[in-house]
Amino acid sequence: MTDQEIPAYPMERAVKCPFDPPPELKTLQEEGPITKVRLADGQTPWLVTGYDDQRAVLSDPRVSSDTASPGYPNPAVAKDYEGDGDEPQEQRPKIGFILMDDPEHARLRRMVTAPFAIKRSEARRPAIQKIVDDAIDAMLAGPNPTDLVEAFALPVPSLVISELLGVPYADHDFFQENSKVIVNLDVAPEERTAGMRNLTVYLDDLVGQKMKAPGDDLLSGLVGRIQAGDLTRAEAAQIGVLLLIAGHETTANMIALGTLALFENPDQLALLRDSDNPVVVAKAVEELLRYLHITHNGRRRAVLEDIEIGGQPVKAGEGVILPGDIANRDPRLFPDPDRLDLTRDARRHIAFGFGVHQCLGQSLARVELQVVYSTLYKRIPTLALAGDLRELPFKHDAAVYGVYELPVTW
Ligand code: HEM
Repeated sequence: MTDQEIPAYPMERAVKCPFDPPPELKTLQEEGPITKVRLADGQTPWLVTGYDDQRAVLSDPRVSSDTASPGYPNPAVAKDYEGDGDEPQEQRPKIGFILMDDPEHARLRRMVTAPFAIKRSEARRPAIQKIVDDAIDAMLAGPNPTDLVEAFALPVPSLVISELLGVPYADHDFFQENSKVIVNLDVAPEERTAGMRNLTVYLDDLVGQKMKAPGDDLLSGLVGRIQAGDLTRAEAAQIGVLLLIAGHETTANMIALGTLALFENPDQLALLRDSDNPVVVAKAVEELLRYLHITHNGRRRAVLEDIEIGGQPVKAGEGVILPGDIANRDPRLFPDPDRLDLTRDARRHIAFGFGVHQCLGQSLARVELQVVYSTLYKRIPTLALAGDLRELPFKHDAAVYGVYELPVTW
């Protein structure tokens, strides 16, 4: 491949099928497991398209999640990336341990694994059901049509993660706004850094308050760790920032985009609405996670030692991008992959990533989505899109895919 032939990444989704990975990405997957792509800042990392190869890279200790590692592919999309490299790598925002390597990553992740264990998430199911029921009551009492994102998809996971962390929900406008800026890949670097700073100062202040008056929440648990000398206050605040962002952004997008995908597939929506079987609901959630794969911009890694990916030698200091959306549509694993089929066994999807960084909050997210998908369409059977799908503001510019607004009526 000559220099000019290297395709640009990210690629655009086709307007008429906003749930599918870009057609160009599909073609690349058909052509082979790995290829070079060009980013807006001129970097040319490797792009891995196959499901097995992506899993192999994500579980390889010779690749790094640290944005300061040489070759780490720049995640930003466009505005300030015109090839002038004006954002030094070390200034890119660090969001808790998600962008760290072991052993530091493992040390910090261990501090918060217990509250996200499957049993603990299951124990939250009744509280989550109440949050969902209350949000639906409030929505039904409000204007019709309304924006489902504002009225339901954002409040539900924000309330759940606020309660778990011990963050006052009354501050939701503040943390939702700053999170939105941080995950937007198209904002100026200074704006993103300011968003990170705002949330870090806020969480540091909360940790300070919990030191004086601990409660029965995750942040108070971290205070215990600080007092035992296992953690610094700054690390606790960083972990808080990561959990607060990851805990509401992702799930909110799954709720809104999942609802839109179901509107577009009424037979599948009916299947979910008409069933009381928790197994049917659990399967539906896995399939929606596979089909939508909302962290569409691709996992990013830097290679620390010479390795081979899909038969291709990749050198230390080169970057790798792993778009899970295309891996989840790999026909070798999921027959007829572009069809939303809530009855298929989609459990092997990698919507929660793979390897040491695999989503810490996945059992909580599963419970939230199961409660939402099994309640919303039953309680409001006439729920429908109020408007034209092609005019919806899709989040092409964000690290997490979804819709900024979803007008609905009932
Ligand atoms: C449907 C919702 C969710 C999706 C699709 C999702 C997806 C992901 C993915 C793909 C990763 C891997 C990142 C990587 O390899 O670089 C990840 C990591 C992570 N997620 Fe989630 N997530 C969701 C919900 C949540 C929730 C509710 C929480 C709760 C706080 C959470 C917390 C985290 C954390 C802390 C990490 C970093 C793990 C690590 O680096 O060890 N996520 N998530």
